[in-house]
Amino acid sequence: MKIFYIAAEASPFIKTGGLADVAGSLPKALAKNDQEVSVVLPLYSAIDWKYRSQFEFVGYFYVDLDWRHQYVGVFKYEKDDVNYYFIDNEYYFARNSLYGEIDDGERFIFFNRAVVGLLKYLDIKPDIVHANDWHTGLIPLYLKDYSKGDSFYKDIKSVYTIHNIKYQGIFKSDILSIAGLGGQYYNEEGIKYYDCINMMKAGIVYCDLLTTVSHTYAQEIRYSFFGQGLDGIIRKHQHKLKGIINGIDYDIFNPKTDKTIDYNYDAKDFSQKKKNKAELQRLFHLPENPDVPLIGMVTRLVDLKGIDLLDYVMDELMNEDIQLVVLGTGENNYEDMLKYYSYRYKNKLAAGIYFDEAHSKKIYAGADFFLMPSVAEPCGISQLIAMRYGTIPIVRETGGLSDTVIPYNKYTNEGTGFGFKTINAHEMLYAIKKAIKLYQDKDSFNKLIKRDLELDNSWNKSSIEYLEEYKRITNG
Ligand code: GLC
Repeated sequence: MKIFYIAAEASPFIKTGGLADVAGSLPKALAKNDQEVSVVLPLYSAIDWKYRSQFEFVGYFYVDLDWRHQYVGVFKYEKDDVNYYFIDNEYYFARNSLYGEIDDGERFIFFNRAVVGLLKYLDIKPDIVHANDWHTGLIPLYLKDYSKGDSFYKDIKSVYTIHNIKYQGIFKSDILSIAGLGGQYYNEEGIKYYDCINMMKAGIVYCDLLTTVSHTYAQEIRYSFFGQGLDGIIRKHQHKLKGIINGIDYDIFNPKTDKTIDYNYDAKDFSQKKKNKAELQRLFHLPENPDVPLIGMVTRLVDLKGIDLLDYVMDELMNEDIQLVVLGTGENNYEDMLKYYSYRYKNKLAAGIYFDEAHSKKIYAGADFFLMPSVAEPCGISQLIAMRYGTIPIVRETGGLSDTVIPYNKYTNEGTGFGFKTINAHEMLYAIKKAIKLYQDKDSFNKLIKRDLELDNSWNKSSIEYLEEYKRITNG
């Protein structure tokens, strides 16, 4: 099958969040299954020159956005048997940030139109176009719309994946002229959302297959608590909705070969993990004590990640004999809260209010536990990375967290982590206490580490699930 995978970010070229991990690893896994896979991305100026300098110029064409006649440069790069195409237009993509620009609506409408135009320009008719999140939500619509007047676009099936329903791409409806879309799409059944257009809604409505990144989240977004205003439209289209859990790239995340951690290890012998813990304590200026349970967090500091729960019980938590390392940036109030507590509990809490890939790896490898108290979590990738490094997750049982972490059962000695059900700070605290209690039982704790190190959360299974779905919709 010929598959075009479209995203606004993909590792290793450009990353702000989990979407980039998926867009950087699923296409590679599909290609390994002998499919012809291409990925299309915007050519942001922020993409590192070490990659850009290797991109090959393919050519250019134009798209019309209302009265603007816009240049679409095409660059190509091959990696891991995947063709990467980059859409060049400096007016839109030579910016300081990927998103949050005043003209995001126009920028990504341009990108969507350019992608659909690209297929014809390259004269490659894919079987599947797989779009992701709001930034590419109009692509399923354009494919349907163009196919009415142009047989090239007939029979191309579209897949749309929701990575996070919170970010929908909502813009004033006067942008319809830039999108080149007639009034027939601007209604409650289409892309209208109050007095605006909603790009994610377009993806949901016009795709042939709708997916999201875990089974549980696929259930949750049918309800208003999780649906962020789109639950009604999700329910309406639930017949084409399927949850497929994300994997992670087991080549890149591998404690045996990872050069960014200080000591390598694997499931057979993880005695070196302790030394990573000592390095981590040193890096974050915490007392070097091998016996105190160390909890790590790598997270954006936003409300959906459940940072309020931490705030609520921080004093009680700091009463325990533990250490906590938090790495990440986000909303000011959470950053300030963590700075305050790390000053107050110098010897127990270290807050790194920045993001650094290498430091994050040192946390995944050096911590004993990894805390993710998310209010909502479509899939979550950090818990998968943590388990890959033998670091035991403590999670709120929502979305992908509940699909990938099996709570420890002290009677049968089974499970892969610790969980709590309701969004309640003391329930979280109780789960943490259970975790640190098990930590004292070295034998059971080591068995738990080993179990996590032996898990397979790679793309092996899920990439096949996508392929089966692709096949089903192209035959049907
Ligand atoms: C988003 C979600 C996260 C998911 C990721 C990749 O970042 O918030 O839960 O793992 O997308 O699908």
